[in-house]
Amino acid sequence: MQERIKELVDILNKADKAYHVDDNPFLSDNEYDSLLRELFELEDKYPEYKLADSPTQKVGSEVISAFKKVTHKIPLFSLSNVFNEEEIREFVKRVKKEVKDASYVCELKMDGLAVSLTYEKGIFKSAATRGDGTVGEDITHNVKTIKSLPLKLNEPVDLEVRGEIYMSKKSFIEANKKRAEAKEPLFQNPRNAAAGSIRQLDSKIAKERKLDIFLYHLPDAPTKTHEEALEYLENLGLPVNKIRVVAKTVDDILNFIEKQAQARANLPYEIDGIVLKVNDIAMQRKLGFTAKYPKWATAYKFPAEEVITKLKDIIFTVGRTGQITPNAVLEPIKVAGSTVKRATLHNLDFIKQKDLRIHDYVYLHKAGDVIPEVVGPVIARRNGSEKELIMIENCPICNHKLTKSTSGIDYFCLNKACPARHIEGLIHFVSRNAMNIDGLGERIIEDFYNMGLIRNFKDIYNLADRKKELIELEGFGSKSVENLLISINNSKNNSLERLLFALGIPGIGAKNAKILAKVYGDIDNLANASFEELTTIKDIGDILAKNIITFFDDPANRIVIRELKDLGVNMTYLGPKLVENENFSHKKFVLTGTLSFITREELKEIIESFNGTVSSSVSKKTDVVIVGDDPGSKYDKAISLGIEIWDEDKIKSLLNN
Ligand code: IVH
Repeated sequence: MQERIKELVDILNKADKAYHVDDNPFLSDNEYDSLLRELFELEDKYPEYKLADSPTQKVGSEVISAFKKVTHKIPLFSLSNVFNEEEIREFVKRVKKEVKDASYVCELKMDGLAVSLTYEKGIFKSAATRGDGTVGEDITHNVKTIKSLPLKLNEPVDLEVRGEIYMSKKSFIEANKKRAEAKEPLFQNPRNAAAGSIRQLDSKIAKERKLDIFLYHLPDAPTKTHEEALEYLENLGLPVNKIRVVAKTVDDILNFIEKQAQARANLPYEIDGIVLKVNDIAMQRKLGFTAKYPKWATAYKFPAEEVITKLKDIIFTVGRTGQITPNAVLEPIKVAGSTVKRATLHNLDFIKQKDLRIHDYVYLHKAGDVIPEVVGPVIARRNGSEKELIMIENCPICNHKLTKSTSGIDYFCLNKACPARHIEGLIHFVSRNAMNIDGLGERIIEDFYNMGLIRNFKDIYNLADRKKELIELEGFGSKSVENLLISINNSKNNSLERLLFALGIPGIGAKNAKILAKVYGDIDNLANASFEELTTIKDIGDILAKNIITFFDDPANRIVIRELKDLGVNMTYLGPKLVENENFSHKKFVLTGTLSFITREELKEIIESFNGTVSSSVSKKTDVVIVGDDPGSKYDKAISLGIEIWDEDKIKSLLNN
């Protein structure tokens, strides 16, 4: 046993490193989970053999334990993104609303990783990664190896300064050459290579990999403008990217983008966009931050990389509502930093519109830089061997005849006993935004389903009666079973919205579930609601209302709810209650302009807590427009439609009552 424990710790630690540090995993998530479970179980049985470096000690930790955690004095913010001219114009318009005559520093968006450096009396003291923005990792020893970074500044100042660590294209090619010679897996791109190098315990590696850095942000700038802050950094001897301009108009910004997009291929490092920052620091302060981003800056991202690959096949999967989805099986290809083998094709309409055929070469990109998407076929590469998709007639899992939706676009397996539907429904039920039960991953649900341990929602809550059986199962130990049962039990105390979402009522996502939970407070109230009543609720239209009615009319669903209730699952809303208020309840509001005593978001929440709704545009249905300073065109529209207007004093007095 001691041997096996040692072996498991060894494999898992290697897998951790391959995943988190080298960006080159060799175990699938399932393989990893099952080995980890085995280790948990063995350590549980033989605690005397538990090793100090066991990965069971760091499960769920955000920061690699070997690195010191650093809490940033000022959080490291990320940037909002814009993808086209229109969105750039909107950004500028938003800025214009708050400050007059802003100009913008346009900089290259380095494709590396953010870092925060501190200097004390001009001497380099420490460096930390961004981490989650609040807490990062201390990487001082590795940053010290960056040749272009001075360990002593030209003046003895105290400084906290931010920038991007990156790897040049040349160093990237060299690093991969070395890895190929050593028969080590290659880095996917310079960013991964830089990230992997900076997160090494041994600084020799970072040194070998020749990292580089540009500084671009001084949170506590002693200057009037950002451009002056950059010059100040340059004068201190810090590396600052010289490619930048101060733009006065949107056209200046667009010119810079155009020019850099052309020059991009010839740069010695990779960039993925252009960063726009309001130059005047007083204006930056006025604009402030959202929870995640500065409002005074944004990142224009270059259009996603597009590649060509072969569409080998189209296969069908069955979702929890029985909906059949076609999926592209692709010749594996790297796009925007990762290898893609599959992509959803959504429905038959999508395939028809794009005229996709099996064996086509297709353009592939990542939508929003994340989700792989088939853009269309490369018609010029057709050679006659392509085949049109023939729609299947039976469910690929249970063979039940498929039903066409009324729109004719979607197909469904309506067999209520289809295992694929059940399994997907169970996976959804336990998922994070639904009942949030830990320890029932997709694979386990599938196994438990096939073993007959969980066939429906109720079975989950009856697992406690089968504890002995569970402990006996391969890969489970008393500890993991204990944890699972605790998590199941805790889920009984969830507020109603989680259950409503978990039940899988067609069209009811987490957001609508919350609205319904708030309005009705209790599942029985919702189950008894009429169609008319439901449609008066904001965001619930005719289709959703009908889905809700149909769901609760189905005796099978009523039984499921009854059973869950008997097992102790909470069926009431536990969040803040709606309070009726004659001034706000059931009225539709639109907010425009700035109020001095409250943000629009806060006011929206208050109105909603009074059972009022807030929408973004003025129409005949709007009851009241609340107008602050510097209102937009909504104000004019309200006047022309003769809609009631409340100014700051009026809303203040109503809220104080
Ligand atoms: S400014 C509060 N400037 O892009 C200001 N960021 O997608 C924060 N980045 O987290 C950042 N080049 O890691 C800024 N010239 C530049 C940048 C830059 C690259 C990175 C940075 C940021 C990410 C946002």
